[in-house]
Amino acid sequence: MEGAASADAKPEPGKIIELGSLSKVYSGENLETHALHKINLKIKEGEYVSIAGQSGCGKSTLLSIIGLLDVCSSGSYYLAGHNASSLNKSERARLRNEEIGFVFQSFNLISDLTVYENVELPLTYRNNLKKSEADCMVRASLEVVGLSNRLDHFPSQLSGGQQQRVAVARAIAGSPSIILADEPCGNLDSKNAESIMTLMESLNENGTTICMVTHDPESAKRAKRYVELFDGQIVTDDVLRDTT
Ligand SMILES: Nc1ncnc2c1ncn2[C@@H]1O[C@H](COP(=O)(O)OP(=O)(O)OP(=O)(O)O)[C@@H](O)[C@H]1O
Ligand SMILES: [Mg+2]
Repeated sequence: MEGAASADAKPEPGKIIELGSLSKVYSGENLETHALHKINLKIKEGEYVSIAGQSGCGKSTLLSIIGLLDVCSSGSYYLAGHNASSLNKSERARLRNEEIGFVFQSFNLISDLTVYENVELPLTYRNNLKKSEADCMVRASLEVVGLSNRLDHFPSQLSGGQQQRVAVARAIAGSPSIILADEPCGNLDSKNAESIMTLMESLNENGTTICMVTHDPESAKRAKRYVELFDGQIVTDDVLRDTT
């Protein structure tokens, strides 16, 4: 069950992501896993944060909670001023769909949908979006990732790098304010990884807030802020580049 926000937790202006003393415990039959422990993290609009730490330290759990895919066990979470613990299921889904684009290590494209249909899919859940508007958004985002000539291809007909660029197009099609990327270059060779990293940088330059989990120290250094987790706690939080 999601814990109630503490009484004094209030959203701060300009902060798009705010976690206050947030913990996550996974409860199994005989086992409890404390995945996150009293995390305090504020991210303002336009930041580019890399999240690092050894396997099992809680990176994906943190991203799932930030992305409203999972709920915390205690503490508070505000996303764009909305108290996550007070949202019902459909409000969560709507906020997630509008504010957040996800990119995962394993691309997560739907194999029997074309490139165009994969990118269009999240937009079909938006009320009040005309088909013609969605069409423009799909084409524009595929243009950004350089895949306008592959609209009718299926994922299996694309290279890994191209599939990940489709996943990025799907993530940005609805103009989310935040991109959450979990090891987006984990399955790519260095050339394709570079093209995803360049895309992330240009999205951030255009104002998108980015949180990216990465094992790769070189990729981590390209962000503007570096957060490292250890055993579910933040042990490093460094500004790498001025964000003002
Ligand atoms: N659904 C779940 N049920 C139970 N335990 C879980 C669940 N998901 C994650 N965990 C546990 O929570 C801890 C944090 O997992 P998490 O996936 O967030 O780590 P991570 O930092 O992303 O690791 P990796 O770098 O290997 O992807 C781990 O001990 C993991 O076993
Ligand atoms: Mg993970």
